[in-house]
Amino acid sequence: MTPSDLSNTSRRLRHLTSLEHLPAAQILRLLDRAEALQQQWLRDRRKLDLLHGRTVVNLFFESSTRTRTSFDLAAKRLGADVINFDIANSSTSKGESLIDTLHTLEAMYCDAFVVRHKVNGTAEFLARHVRGPACVINAGDGNNAHPTQGLLDAYTIRRHRPDFSILRVLICGDILHSRVARSDIHALRTLGVGNLRVCAPANLLPAETELPGCEIVEDFDSALDGADVIIMLRLQKERMQQAQVPSEQAYYARYGLDARRLRLARPDCLVMHPGPLNREVEIASAVADSAQSCILEQVGNGVFVRMAVLTELLGV
Ligand code: CP
Repeated sequence: MTPSDLSNTSRRLRHLTSLEHLPAAQILRLLDRAEALQQQWLRDRRKLDLLHGRTVVNLFFESSTRTRTSFDLAAKRLGADVINFDIANSSTSKGESLIDTLHTLEAMYCDAFVVRHKVNGTAEFLARHVRGPACVINAGDGNNAHPTQGLLDAYTIRRHRPDFSILRVLICGDILHSRVARSDIHALRTLGVGNLRVCAPANLLPAETELPGCEIVEDFDSALDGADVIIMLRLQKERMQQAQVPSEQAYYARYGLDARRLRLARPDCLVMHPGPLNREVEIASAVADSAQSCILEQVGNGVFVRMAVLTELLGV
């Protein structure tokens, strides 16, 4: 949460650009709301009209399968109209600025902007420049934040392990380039996870100041000991200036989660991954597709978490 995330007139969440500093009560309220929406959907399988007459714009300047589709579905299941803004064929290609694009869409009475951009701080920048009541939701900015992924990961863990205080959660992989890791850390720390560990090659770890409250464990086998939840992360080659791992095979040998390594964690350990997967690079197919994997459940939960966020921000 940043200063522009809060409404001036109330403590209602105005935008969602980060989970940093978002109070536990606010996170829990969103998770509870997602739970209620999920129960209702599973019971009735009917669209709601909570956002009837509202328009949600997906502004994705970076590619996405899960986040974009689930925001699209979430908005439609709430009765909103959705614009999946076509960046490549928009006036952005003629040089129109981000702010002018925002104000142009605002002039058409769009109510919510879901923004993904490679530059850190883009969603926060737009949140500071909206002129009307529209809200901005960060769908991932550079390696800074992916707040709805952090929320859906917390939501998925809570459905299986409601008492966070006794949990050992391990986040492993390319943490340096991961906005998911940062948002997961903010959410899980705030919700009081007992032991939060991170594991990565030294050159894929950010400064310790960016890992507040985390135990850093270099050796993956040691890090797995007693874990209740493992969140594996993808190597984000698109954000690397140069090759930061010698080879994918060498990386897999040291940091890949395979069946042998999974046995080092607790027998009922949950395996998570935000996707997309690099199979046999950070995770073995035998693990990703195993009964312990919650990877597809995370995807499904994302729709209800995003429905919760949209209703919260749009004041329903
Ligand atoms: N987890 C996630 O953000 O996936 P997408 O890039 O497919 O949206």
